Amino acid sequence: MSDTWKDKLYEPSDELIAVENVNYEGPEPHTEEEGPREELISIDHVDLSYSGNTGPIKALENINFNIFPGEFVCVLGPSGCGKSTLLKIIAGFISPTEGSIKLDGNEIKGTDWHRGVVFQHPPLFEWYTVRSNIAFGPKMRGVPKEEYEPLVEEYLKKVGLSEFADKKIYELSGGMKQRVSIARSLINDPEILLMDEPFGALDALTRESVQDLTRKIWWETGKTIFFITHDVEEALLLGSRIIVLSRHPGRVIEDIPVSFSRQVIQDCSTDVKFSAEFYKYREQLLRLINSQ
Ligand SMILES: Nc1ncnc2c1ncn2[C@@H]1O[C@H](COP(=O)(O)OP(=O)(O)OP(=O)(O)O)[C@@H](O)[C@H]1O
Ligand SMILES: [Mg+2]
Repeated sequence: MSDTWKDKLYEPSDELIAVENVNYEGPEPHTEEEGPREELISIDHVDLSYSGNTGPIKALENINFNIFPGEFVCVLGPSGCGKSTLLKIIAGFISPTEGSIKLDGNEIKGTDWHRGVVFQHPPLFEWYTVRSNIAFGPKMRGVPKEEYEPLVEEYLKKVGLSEFADKKIYELSGGMKQRVSIARSLINDPEILLMDEPFGALDALTRESVQDLTRKIWWETGKTIFFITHDVEEALLLGSRIIVLSRHPGRVIEDIPVSFSRQVIQDCSTDVKFSAEFYKYREQLLRLINSQ
């Protein structure tokens, strides 16, 4: 690649962030010969009501869907429709009022490291170093130091933070904090990564860079991701499947597979967002959400 400024403009965006060891083959698609897919998460007739001051508030109504291993599920819906509530149920922070939710066929009864959560404002230990924050989960689980230390280095590298390992969290930018938060969840090797509008508070450029990182980690590790966003374009550029919830109380009104993220990985570019097909999906999803 020559060094003229014009060429620089078109260099693949993966050069903006130091992500190493990316496997561009990606997860193997499921084939029919492998038989029916086993669901990782099954959500069966789930209702959730909160007890409000003036009586119960129904946040979710009759939610029914499965999440399969390796999927990148993006959830869209109007504000207050119950997206975070759904994520909290999957995380095990709250239990459904009706119906059941299972992980690998077992009822989810509380939080544990099988499900990692990344929030918009990551609850990190501000006065600890990046390295200590990433090491926190395995340390708490009693993993021996000689086992978790190389893992910490591996995840530091994966999220492009090796050279910031000894910085304190308060010394980092918002995007860097989100990378720490992602590494801190991934090091526990969770079966599913739950992300609640994780990039909503970031500026556009930083946001694009952590989206890129998340997409690559998904592609490389084949991790199952459940990702809440307000942003239709973000959902289309990241997800392998998009679920739309209706206005309060949330019901599933759309559930579609999408493949733009695969194309972004293969092209090393997000130019697919200028295609007629992308435009069509974006308009239809926006219309659906705005018609609520
Ligand atoms: N702890 C709570 N107690 C009572 N009501 C609640 C509680 N948490 C959420 N709600 C209500 O449940 C509904 C769904 O809230 P939730 O936070 O899941 O929506 P959301 O789709 O994540 O919204 P946003 O897009 O604004 O983040 C809202 O009407 C909200 O007021
Ligand atoms: Mg929310």
